[in-house]
Amino acid sequence: MKRARWLCGLVALAGGLAATSLSAQVRRAPERLPAPAPEAKFTPRFEALAETKLLMEGLAQPNYRAVEKHLQGKGPPDVDTWMFARGQALLIAETGNLLLLRPPRNEGRDIWMRRATDMRQSAGALARQLGNRNLAGSRTALLDLTDKCNACHRTFRVPTRIGPNEEN
Ligand code: HEC
Repeated sequence: MKRARWLCGLVALAGGLAATSLSAQVRRAPERLPAPAPEAKFTPRFEALAETKLLMEGLAQPNYRAVEKHLQGKGPPDVDTWMFARGQALLIAETGNLLLLRPPRNEGRDIWMRRATDMRQSAGALARQLGNRNLAGSRTALLDLTDKCNACHRTFRVPTRIGPNEEN
């Protein structure tokens, strides 16, 4: 009798163990969990936060200056510096995307979009030249980018001129 109760207890314990390991298994297999409730459809809205002047001073100008410096003399001394310069050109290109979020409120919206897109394209082309470690190609691409910076400034009567002959 005593022995039978002991056996019963053992069976119960075994059952308990089986149940725990089963629940652990269930927990380990996420595909068996009920599908989460579908998220409501979410359409993100892009929102410009920084002033254009801040993008110019914080992103466009420092990265432009840095690439310009890398391309002086014999150009970047090693692969890492080429790749660093490529990254800086890509940050200028991404700044073009940010500019697309903040066209002027009055007229000039379309031309702003075109100028910002032109800058993005030129900076992207510059990044490719830098990625290929092509010094002559990178210098030509930088001149092209310089034109794009100045084109927008001229259109929107920003007095700042970019380039080797300017004092920025
Ligand atoms: C799509 C138009 C546009 C493009 C492209 C553009 N800029 Fe600008 N930039 C502006 C505007 C607008 C201002 C004036 C901002 C202000 O003062 O509110 C400005 C101002 C500046 C300033 C002066 C900031 C100050 O301290 O007043 C610098 C420097 C500058 N840009 C650098 C660049 C460089 C470098 C590029 C190219 C890599 C570039 N910009 C491309 C629109 C542009």
